[in-house]
Amino acid sequence: MLDGFLKNLFEGLLLSGGMTAMSPPPLTPETEPDAIILRYQQELSGQLKAAMQAGGPVAAIGICKELAPAIATRLSQETGWQVRRIGTRVRNPELGLPDAWEQERLAEFASRMAAGERPEALGLRATVEDAQGRVERYLRAIPTQAACLACHGDPAAQPEALRAALAHHYPHDGAIGYQLGELRGAFSLKRGIRNGVAESSQPTSPHP
Ligand code: HEC
Repeated sequence: MLDGFLKNLFEGLLLSGGMTAMSPPPLTPETEPDAIILRYQQELSGQLKAAMQAGGPVAAIGICKELAPAIATRLSQETGWQVRRIGTRVRNPELGLPDAWEQERLAEFASRMAAGERPEALGLRATVEDAQGRVERYLRAIPTQAACLACHGDPAAQPEALRAALAHHYPHDGAIGYQLGELRGAFSLKRGIRNGVAESSQPTSPHP
């Protein structure tokens, strides 16, 4: 299992152009957040693609609505990081709304992209104080890809059935009108630090 995981990590890094060496990178505290994000991304995009091909975007809504939060919860329980996906605008305000710190970082990511930086290069780590005390945070930009436009692009281009289904599930949907390449949001990881030691041995749920 671990072999498969490292292979996925390796291939993912290769695909993102992040690595050229021929051996898998060691799993260290530095690479851990991106390894977790890669697992999230690969599982979700694999299932999303399959559901889109099998039943089109209306059928695939369930993947984003049920599976995405389920993957986040499972990874949070497995790793001790609170794993979330946030949007610059949101479809589901209960799960996807950025907090103040995330909002500022997303604005920075957006202006760095406007200045020509590639979204794949935008990740950042920080130690900050919040309501939980001292926490370690990690944010990795999510760009809008072609595959996202069916559900997050121009609503005028959406089939009526999709528009109706989205309006039914998300009456306050803000996550439409995205352009290809625009910043869509970020993967956001957070965990508590006590006495300088990460609390990874005590996994916490993202929905306490
Ligand atoms: C089949 C339609 C569909 C497609 C395709 C799709 N999404 Fe979504 N997306 C949704 C739905 C539905 C939600 C709300 C999920 C929930 O209820 O938590 C969502 C939520 C999100 C969120 C969380 C923030 C928010 O707005 O609530 C992000 C980030 C996101 N999508 C990014 C993407 C990206 C990036 C792609 C392309 C790789 C993509 N989506 C493709 C339907 C879709």
